[in-house]
Amino acid sequence: MRIFAIETSCDETGLALVAATGGLAAPKFKVLKSVVNSQIAAHRPFGGVVPNIAKREHLKNLPLALAELGMSERDFTNVDLIAVTSGPGLEPALWAGITFARELAKKYKKPITGVNHLEGHLYSFLLAKETGSSNYQIPNTKSLFPAIGLIVSGGHTTLLRLKDMRTRKKLGETRDDAVGEAFDKVARILGLPYPGGPEVERVAAKGNPKAIAFPRPMIKDKSYDFSYSGLKTAVLYYVKGLGYSHSGLESTGGRKNLNLIPKTLLADIAASFQAAALEPLVAKTMRAVEEFSARSVFLSGGVAANKPLRKLLETAAKKRGAKLYVADFKHNTDNAVMIAVGGYINFLRGKRLPLVAKGNMNV
Ligand code: KG4
Ligand code: ZN
Repeated sequence: MRIFAIETSCDETGLALVAATGGLAAPKFKVLKSVVNSQIAAHRPFGGVVPNIAKREHLKNLPLALAELGMSERDFTNVDLIAVTSGPGLEPALWAGITFARELAKKYKKPITGVNHLEGHLYSFLLAKETGSSNYQIPNTKSLFPAIGLIVSGGHTTLLRLKDMRTRKKLGETRDDAVGEAFDKVARILGLPYPGGPEVERVAAKGNPKAIAFPRPMIKDKSYDFSYSGLKTAVLYYVKGLGYSHSGLESTGGRKNLNLIPKTLLADIAASFQAAALEPLVAKTMRAVEEFSARSVFLSGGVAANKPLRKLLETAAKKRGAKLYVADFKHNTDNAVMIAVGGYINFLRGKRLPLVAKGNMNV
C-alpha cells in the first residue's frame, strides 16, 4: 500500500510518500519521496523551539514542502492511507499537521490515521537495512525478538522491552530532562548553537572524555529510569567555576566571555559531558539485554544519530550476543518516513489512532 505521511510534532516539517508491503514478519518499505524542512533558523535566536513559531513555520512550510515533494494528482489518487503524527509533541504544531492531513484526506477521499511519534521512532529500526536504492527490509523480524528498544530524543529517553512486533512493555524513562534536551542545554552553556546535539558531538570528538569526572546519573540505580537535569547542572557549575559564563543562558555578571574559553578545554568539557550522558544509556540497555536475554537492540530518536552512542551500543550488544539495529542517519531525527512506517505497522496490528493532537502521548 502507498502511505502519504506528515510529521509536524516539533521543529521539522516532514512529508513522505512510502510504498509498504509485506506482513509483520517481513515488512518492506520503499521511500518514493521524502522532504524534511527544518525550522532551525527560525528558532536559533531563542536557543530552543518556541511552540507558536513552530506552528507558524509549519503552516508556511507544509504547502511549500508539498510542492517540493512533487506529488502529482495521480500520485495522490494512488495513495491508500494518509498517516499524520498526532502526538506527543507541541500541540499547536501537531494541529498544523493534522489539519493539513484532514484537508488532503477530504480532497482525495482517502482514509486517514493518527500516528504516535514515538512509535514512528521505535519502528524506524525497520529502516536499518537498505536493500537497494531507498528499499528497506528486514526479512525475518521474528528472529529479532525478544528485543530492547531505546528511544532517545529531545523530549524522551525511554527503554522498552519488545516481545514481538505486537507486544511491548515500558521498562523505564527519564525522571526529568531527556538526554537530547541535556545535549541542547549543555550546548547553550558552552555557547554552541541550537540544536546542540550534533554540535556537542562535533566539539567532543577533539576532547578527552576522561578529563572531567561528571556524574553518571542513576547508573547504579536498580530501576531502568534515567535522569539528566543534574548532569546539565554539573556542567553549568563546572563552567561557572572556571570563571566563564555564557550570556545566552544568563547574565555574565562580569565573568569572562565564553568565547575566550580555550578550544581544548571546551572540547574536554563536551567530551566529558558526552561520556557521562551516554554511559547510563549503554549500561541500562545492556542490563535489560541480559535480564531479558534480548537478541536485538533497537536504537531510535534524534540522539541515535550520535556516532559514539551507536558505536558503544553496537560493541556492548555484540559482547552479549545481541545485535544493534538503527536506521540510517537521515531517519534518526524527525522525518515523515518513520511516520509512514509507524502508520503501516499499526495498520497491520489493526490499530488506528484518532485525529486529535495529544501533546503528552506515551509509548
Ligand atoms: O527525534 P528528534 O529529532 O526530535 C524529538 O522528537 O525530540 O530529536 C532531536 C534531539 C535534539 O535534542 C538534538 O540535539 C538531538 O536529538 N541530536 C543529537 C544528535 N543529533 C540530534 N544528540 C546527540 N548527538 C547527535 N549527533
Ligand atoms: Zn522525534
